[in-house]
Amino acid sequence: MKITLDTTPFEALETEALVTYLFEDGDASQGRIGELDKLTGGLLAKLIRGGEATGKALETTLVHAPAGLKAARLLLIGAGKREQFNTVTLRKAAGVALRYLKSRSVHNFVFAVREGGATEENAQAITEGAIAADFETDKYKTEKKNNKHIENLAIGGYSDDQKAAGEKGIARGRIIADAQNFARDLVNEPGNRMTPTILADRARKMSEETGLTCEIYGPDKLKELKMGAFWSVAQGSDEEPRLIVMRYEPSGAPTKPVLGLVGKGITFDSGGISIKPSDGMEKMKYDMAGGAAMVGAMRAIAQLKPNVRVIGIVCASENMPSGKAQKPGDVQIAMSGKSIEIINTDAEGRLVLADGLHYAKQLGCTHLIDAATLTGACVVALGMVNAGVFANDDEFYDRFNRSLRKSGEKMWRLPVDEEYREMIKSTIADIMNTGGRWGGAVTAAMFLKEFVGDTPWLHLDIAGVAWMEDNKPWIAKGPSGVAVRSIVEFVRELGKSN
Ligand code: BES
Ligand code: MN
Ligand code: ZN
Repeated sequence: MKITLDTTPFEALETEALVTYLFEDGDASQGRIGELDKLTGGLLAKLIRGGEATGKALETTLVHAPAGLKAARLLLIGAGKREQFNTVTLRKAAGVALRYLKSRSVHNFVFAVREGGATEENAQAITEGAIAADFETDKYKTEKKNNKHIENLAIGGYSDDQKAAGEKGIARGRIIADAQNFARDLVNEPGNRMTPTILADRARKMSEETGLTCEIYGPDKLKELKMGAFWSVAQGSDEEPRLIVMRYEPSGAPTKPVLGLVGKGITFDSGGISIKPSDGMEKMKYDMAGGAAMVGAMRAIAQLKPNVRVIGIVCASENMPSGKAQKPGDVQIAMSGKSIEIINTDAEGRLVLADGLHYAKQLGCTHLIDAATLTGACVVALGMVNAGVFANDDEFYDRFNRSLRKSGEKMWRLPVDEEYREMIKSTIADIMNTGGRWGGAVTAAMFLKEFVGDTPWLHLDIAGVAWMEDNKPWIAKGPSGVAVRSIVEFVRELGKSN
């Protein structure tokens, strides 16, 4: 899909569809809507008065051959209350427009911002919304939806002197949304086509294309590094594990901070000897969504070139039952030296991350973010709306929270108070890999906290939001690519403060 900035006045626009958005204020005289109303001889006032266009969030109103315009269609997207309108709403509105028009075999359209909206960040949000909306999961369907694709999106409503800012926004939005879709594509692959080896190959290829340094290690290196926790998960599978390290080290950046991005890359989670019930087990192909998010984020970082060092680490493994698999009751020694009693082999994500996080610190990371489809308990707590975010440092959390507001990704903070540590104490080892019946998302985070020490750290439990169970008007069901945009926004800010 080509995305450009178009400064042509509305009345002269020749396009298959002219799209803009309508607020809930019932006012047809304001700004752009007023302009369009005049051009069309009162069409918008009529639609609003008649109750056909209310401005209710994500509502769509389509008019064919609107009088006074050269555009073949006029599409209005509801944008909710004007006071609450922001880039989050705008991103969704652009997504709704794209999916609505694409499904009706439209191939090009103009999405025009409202009065006062011709900014760099709005162009970025529209671009992100459109590119994310364009992603489909029909890769393995032999019959594709023919003729249903958008060729050109033009962003309108910008004047000539606003054009440069708009184009900057488009360029950045494209990089970020392409990275999100890149991650979604990895997550969408089934377990037989996304083994640890294949994931590593994809990360290597991406690194070569974007100029990142990439190192990939197998079983020998895991053993040499004494990654006993990571290896305990990998040992049961015939597929070899991979430790993926991607480095972005711009020469001009200060030596500190170094941000470590550590992702859980379980390419299939059967549960191991503590095997999962077969109902729904197929979903566990997306247990590498945290790892995919880190590969995607590193891709965008390499292209946006912020002035800060970042190291991406993915711990990729299958979790399988076999004669070589670890058993409940086994004791494993993590790379940090901590001993772990395995209570449930299905609590494998925290094991691979324990060594991933420790290794990140050894590589010199001063700040850590991990992302993982870690616990069903987080889904119980927050449903499929918010990811869980855990932090051992309030300032670090506050900074990340500002990036969440930009990205529009929803994450809710959960605690890591010391009182919870009791729950993972083991009688035979330092800690156990489960914490009992209550607070399962928190005890999993407490387990990880054992391996980060005093390093400022954020843990993102994305189990409930990495895979969307339903189609939404602005995005297809399936992998969401969550965390990519927030992490990239966070790294951009970090680069600015250097
Ligand atoms: N990958 C799962 C968590 C998960 C659940 C991801 C639902 C996505 C959707 C994780 O490895 C797991 O199995 N966790 C266990 C931990 C338990 C054994 C302590 C869980 O949540 O049940
Ligand atoms: Mn598991
Ligand atoms: Zn898992």
